[in-house]
Amino acid sequence: MDKILANSGYGSRKEVKALIKAGNITVSGKVIKDPGYLVDLDKELPAVDGEIVNYSRFHYLMMNKPAGVVSSTWDPNSKTVIDLLTPPYDKFDLFPAGRLDKDTEGLLLITNDGQLAHNLLSPKKGVPKTYYAEVSGQVSPEDVQAFRQGIPLEEGFVTLPARLDILASGEISKVMVTVCEGKFHQVKRMFQALGKKVCYLKRISIGSLKLDEGLQPGTFRELTEKEVEALNNLKTNRYL
Ligand code: URA
Repeated sequence: MDKILANSGYGSRKEVKALIKAGNITVSGKVIKDPGYLVDLDKELPAVDGEIVNYSRFHYLMMNKPAGVVSSTWDPNSKTVIDLLTPPYDKFDLFPAGRLDKDTEGLLLITNDGQLAHNLLSPKKGVPKTYYAEVSGQVSPEDVQAFRQGIPLEEGFVTLPARLDILASGEISKVMVTVCEGKFHQVKRMFQALGKKVCYLKRISIGSLKLDEGLQPGTFRELTEKEVEALNNLKTNRYL
């Protein structure tokens, strides 16, 4: 009972336990004072002060991650993306599905749906992630070809084929990059291997999910039902 209420935005686990013990909660009309009461959501209707609880087991947030915060749930030295969540989402035990570097901005999915997160991150699924990058130095058609072939990053490891689109080539080149794996610093290391340095990186999409450009850095919104459904139906990396 306490977990359902906490996940539905009625307060922290401690706060909802107090609510339950105070007799504010009914299940199908009967007062329940045991926080550990196992609710059968197929048959029973929990209510708080007479208001039926609209229970959603999973939460899905899209955040426009700002630079300067880490994408983990806790860090002794830095602000995390979880610190940016406002009530009631800060009470839901959410975690970021995958990582962006501290200085990378853009699309981050924050959820408590471990299965979906696993699917999006699984190397087997190879879900494409697209980034906008600014790179110091001229990006050339040879670089596009190198990305297409896969780039050796270290002894015995060559990246999967990736897509590089040049938007503008110059002292600072502007490009879009799509990769189907998520190795540590992957995009930065791919350019580094070609003698170039990424000076700005922003994730624009994960599979079917596109960053809502209306979201200011550091803000988030819930995914729509359609967006969640599309993520759940993602198949493989055949986009490239
Ligand atoms: N590639 C990187 O180098 N950094 C990120 O944050 C994401 C992809």
